[in-house]
Amino acid sequence: METLVITNIGRLMTPLGTSAKRGAAQGMVRTLDHSWVRIEDGLIAALGTGEPEVPPEAQVLDAGGRLATPGLVDAHTHLIFGGWRQNELGLKLHGVPYLDILAQGGGILSTVRSTRAASQSELADKARLALDEMLSFGTTTCEAKSGYGLDTENELKQLRAIRDLSESHPMDLVPTFLGAHALPEEYKEDRAEYVRLLCQEMIPAVASEGLAKFCDVFCETGVFTAEESRQILEAGRQHGLLPKIHADEIDPIGGSVLAGEMGAVSAEHLIVCPPEGIVGMARGGTIACLLPATSFYLGAAFAPARDMIDAGVPVALATDFNPGSCPCLNMQLVINLGCLKYRMTPEEVLTAATLNGAAAVRLADRIGSLEPGKWGDLVLWEAEDLDYLCYRMGSNLVHTVVKRGRPFSAARQLF
Ligand code: NIG
Ligand code: FE
Repeated sequence: METLVITNIGRLMTPLGTSAKRGAAQGMVRTLDHSWVRIEDGLIAALGTGEPEVPPEAQVLDAGGRLATPGLVDAHTHLIFGGWRQNELGLKLHGVPYLDILAQGGGILSTVRSTRAASQSELADKARLALDEMLSFGTTTCEAKSGYGLDTENELKQLRAIRDLSESHPMDLVPTFLGAHALPEEYKEDRAEYVRLLCQEMIPAVASEGLAKFCDVFCETGVFTAEESRQILEAGRQHGLLPKIHADEIDPIGGSVLAGEMGAVSAEHLIVCPPEGIVGMARGGTIACLLPATSFYLGAAFAPARDMIDAGVPVALATDFNPGSCPCLNMQLVINLGCLKYRMTPEEVLTAATLNGAAAVRLADRIGSLEPGKWGDLVLWEAEDLDYLCYRMGSNLVHTVVKRGRPFSAARQLF
């Protein structure tokens, strides 16, 4: 048996449980000072305060009085893509709106061209570098969407790249099929035919290879209507893919209301979520997966997180890492923005970036909190308490990431 005992933790902070936390419960976390954690064969076996018993064969990691939290869960990324889009920065600075760039064949469609031109292994190699960086910033599980192929062959290529990475990288990956990310140029004049292709060819092909857990749709002006989104998500559900929705990012065209009606696992973005969407999500048990780095990058408003928490909607936080609206994979920045722009407390933010993110990828029984039986995924921070982690900005405060009981140390000294 492989045993790792982490000793001398100054403060351990974790939400508790195996489901998303909502309302006041989102801000309730357990604090254990002067604590330890024992991980056996990648699973948390025990934790407590005071001096631990250390089995003779165990590996010991001295936390040096640092803060420990669960590994961060990034529940929304567009991990697999060819190229970048730095050329759009100038357009943005000249005030060209995001949806205009897309309507002119740029934006997502320009990444589709680069992604189609790349091989599966080129896509995986590029994404592997991103995963290394994410791990070094404290993310131990991430969701990864397709959505830059927009035809059967290239969507499958992206999802197979995710599967290859799952098998070869320490990061745990959760795959999502997002063939409904944009209308490909070749179907510009025939939307109904692309929706038919999604429902009758792409979704069945993805499901039969077991390549995705979720089906997602970009429900937005000029992309997919609420009615088309419903059709696509229902087709996904019939093939065992659980629904997620990019909703109310730029225009409120009914995405969050649809999410609530369908009992979607999560709705994402929600920058302009109307009150009826919040009520609907609370009723449908949908998690609001908020992406503050995207709001920041687009110069947009910030989602009404406090209204959501007050209405009993569980809030998760994620990066939205992608080459257009958010070329950022750093969950620590997301944590800062969660406090500063959403006015969430550090405890609410911790739950959002761990347990509620885990619930948004339907893994809350395995990850998202430090409790016996869960995977041994945790971070030791260059921080004495949670306030410090939320307050510092722009540095990488990771000291050590422990992934399924295996420690990865940051190779530098912070002050
Ligand atoms: O979540 N909104 C749609 N999709 C991504 C952006 C993708 C891109 O611009 O390449 C998002 O923001
Ligand atoms: Fe997204």
